[in-house]
Amino acid sequence: MQNGELQAFERIPVEIYPDATKAVATVAAEIATAIRERQAAGRDFVLGLATGSTPVPLYKELIRLHREDGLSFSNVITFNLDEYFPIGHEHPESYHRFMKEQLFDYIDIPEERIHVPSGEVGRDDVFAACQAYEEAIAAAGGIDMQILGIGRTGHIGFNEPGSGMRSRTRLVTLDRLTKLDAARDFLGEHNVPRYAVTMGVGTIMDARSLVLLAWGRSKAEVIKQAVEGEPRDSLPASFLQAHPSARFVLDEASASELTRNRQPWRVGFPDWTPELSRKAIAELSLSLDKPLLKLVDKDYQENGLSELVTEQGPAYGLNIRIFNELQHTITGWPGGKPDADDTYRPERAQPARKRVLVLSPEPQDDVLAMAGTLSRLAAHGHDITVAYQTSGSLGVPDEEARWAAELIVEASRGEEAVLAKRVLLELDEKGAFDQDTKQLREFKAYIRRNEARAALQRCGVDLSCIRFLDLPFYENGRYRQFQVGEADVSELEKLLRRSMPHQVYATGSDADPSSVSAKGFEVFRCALERLRGEAWVEDCYVWLYRSDGREWAAHQTEMSVPCSPDELKIKAQAIYQHRSQRSQVPVLDEEQTEAWEQAIARNRQTATTYDRFGLAEYEAIECFVRWRP
Ligand code: GLP
Repeated sequence: MQNGELQAFERIPVEIYPDATKAVATVAAEIATAIRERQAAGRDFVLGLATGSTPVPLYKELIRLHREDGLSFSNVITFNLDEYFPIGHEHPESYHRFMKEQLFDYIDIPEERIHVPSGEVGRDDVFAACQAYEEAIAAAGGIDMQILGIGRTGHIGFNEPGSGMRSRTRLVTLDRLTKLDAARDFLGEHNVPRYAVTMGVGTIMDARSLVLLAWGRSKAEVIKQAVEGEPRDSLPASFLQAHPSARFVLDEASASELTRNRQPWRVGFPDWTPELSRKAIAELSLSLDKPLLKLVDKDYQENGLSELVTEQGPAYGLNIRIFNELQHTITGWPGGKPDADDTYRPERAQPARKRVLVLSPEPQDDVLAMAGTLSRLAAHGHDITVAYQTSGSLGVPDEEARWAAELIVEASRGEEAVLAKRVLLELDEKGAFDQDTKQLREFKAYIRRNEARAALQRCGVDLSCIRFLDLPFYENGRYRQFQVGEADVSELEKLLRRSMPHQVYATGSDADPSSVSAKGFEVFRCALERLRGEAWVEDCYVWLYRSDGREWAAHQTEMSVPCSPDELKIKAQAIYQHRSQRSQVPVLDEEQTEAWEQAIARNRQTATTYDRFGLAEYEAIECFVRWRP
């Protein structure tokens, strides 16, 4: 739908697919066609490649085309965008290794045709190496098609904000946010290399065509900026707008902030579904800073909503309808209010005591999003099971493990403490970048279990209800390379069968597809699919929560659970118990960087929004959306 109104907002062609799998199928098919056409003409195809989680599904599809469709890469020359610096090619997080593990080892590309900037050259030789990289690209005839991801700072390759439009391959210093994003992969922010070698914006712009891929809700804001904002140094991806053959290939979640999705009435004549009118009216109220019930026809007309008010108005009726809809989402009884009329309540009154299953992809996701709701469910006497799908061991910094192991060794007066002593030995022997041994991961998992228990205790949840599933996809995997398998799904299926919940709380439905949350949700979805048809499944409400720092918007929310100031304190304490997840280095600036601060701020923000609508004024609110597969 590249109509005139759309072009008024979008400064670069955008393609949106329901999910990443469908999106990459198109791009991979395009690459395959181009490779084959060149093969037929006896020529090379020069492909620019990217790293990060984003291109992983594309590489999977290319491997599949190679295996099942006979696509040969023998006439392909590749150039990767970037590499950390300094870093050894064998380092588990080096892009050399990443590319081998994700693509090169599985296709028939001749080794000498692969180019990845080196993180191994000496500091004095970097400049020459960067120049040689540029020359190699030129010698290959330039890049035919460059695949790109996008960082949260809007960077492409490692061209951080401030990179000039004409920059070339060079050594750059990494941004704080980029390092934070990489901290998990490197098992701690302090392990992340400070520099990187990257193709410049100019180098990238020289490619004959550019395809930027993005998935998941976490990219939505930066995508909006890059697509709709003025091109500017502070957002290097926005420079792509000037390229004659660049496009963005997105999934629905990463495209969700684009005007065409956020405010479709501004780019055409949308179908005014109840959700869309709720969205439009909620936004109108907030943008005019007027409570819902005070909006008048003129407000609608002057703000692009004439059609809505003409079709469904007058304002008075619309206002009341939306006010009531939002009002009805609010409940202090997340498990349903016994003996109450539940016609307009999010949850059913019966049965009064429900079996509740809370699925937390990693320890802490649960309390980040719903500690307040958990406290209420516990106080109302529901039969709760909290299942941690993965151990979360990868998220524990070595320092934390050392701290705990030393404590155990000292407390046991050096006598037994076999595991703890072995852990200390392993930590001594282990380089900062080395992968954890099985034992070390096990020990780190204990740390997270302990934290999870302490957190739930704060919420008043009975600790005997906790299940640590330690799903194999996580235990046997590493970040970006998790693969859900039968063992994962059957484990969850067993749990569901055993607990037959009336309510499930889950997350990850619109997360980055390679993230732990998304994998956790995939496992749940597959398990539930197998149980379809059973009476309890048909009767089960699935409530989606968000623990990734982005709360559901008011127009989406179907259950809003208020927290009192005291409950909010408990929530902060519960999150605080996840000691291994706090920053390892105290941050002394104004930013609220700690998880509990952010979660509390978010819940307060939601309450403020409801207050601005003219609804009741609460201290904080937690939000849920019902999942209807
Ligand atoms: C890194 C890479 C970029 C990549 C970005 C986003 O910074 N240098 O090329 O686009 O991460 O990563 P992800 O795809 O994992 O979100």
